[in-house]
Amino acid sequence: MSDHGTNSKSGAANAQEFYTRWARLYDALATYGPGVATLRERTAAALDPRPGDTVVEMGCGTGANFAFLRERVGSSGTVVGVDFSPGMLAVARDRVAREGWENVHVVRADAATPPIRDSDAIVASFVSGMLADPAAVVNEWSELVGPGGRLALLDLARSTRPACRPLNALFHGLVFAGMPSKRPADLSAATDVLDRRVVAAQRALRERCADASYSTHALGFARLGAGTVD
Ligand SMILES: C[S@@+](CC[C@H](N)C(=O)[O-])C[C@H]1O[C@@H](n2cnc3c(N)ncnc32)[C@H](O)[C@@H]1O
Repeated sequence: MSDHGTNSKSGAANAQEFYTRWARLYDALATYGPGVATLRERTAAALDPRPGDTVVEMGCGTGANFAFLRERVGSSGTVVGVDFSPGMLAVARDRVAREGWENVHVVRADAATPPIRDSDAIVASFVSGMLADPAAVVNEWSELVGPGGRLALLDLARSTRPACRPLNALFHGLVFAGMPSKRPADLSAATDVLDRRVVAAQRALRERCADASYSTHALGFARLGAGTVD
């Protein structure tokens, strides 16, 4: 999470290099990390696409959400994963081939300006914090799915639950460790920037979806918003 996010040239290059280098380790954590599968299941349930729908996952990484999304849209639906890091996409492609999923596709592109014309639902997990202007991107995604389309965002940010606040220092360290660019100036700002972007993304979703739902999980560190675009 650099100051400019992945919308800037250098931010994007850093992120792609970082995620490509760590793709296999990331995949193990993203797939088998404690409680992560439950969060993914909840996110797919909150997105609530119909059988037969086309769901686009922005910043799909190694495809750890694909099974949960595929289960929702069924064999007549389609899942498209969009990501710009070649290493993450390679792991996602391996996953799709290994599972023999013919209705799951991955595309290398910028999630902020995706080359997608038609989609019933868009989901993004652990991505808002990497975008320099998450509200603009969420608005773009709202336009893409159009009225009646579904959106869901899952993100990590500092916990606001009083009993869990002491854990925010540990969370801060983990966020810094996971940042593509580790300049000293980023150290103190790491979680401030993350929190601000996550709040902006969730607010944009609420502004576009009158029926928006919002819940926190994992001791308040995970924030899940979803709704239908007006
Ligand atoms: C923390 S990982 C999350 C991966 C996946 N969504 C998950 O839940 O495990 C963030 C992913 O977003 C991708 N990403 C970040 N900004 C992006 C952008 N502007 N366009 C495409 N992919 C982006 C990165 O390449 C990385 O794979």
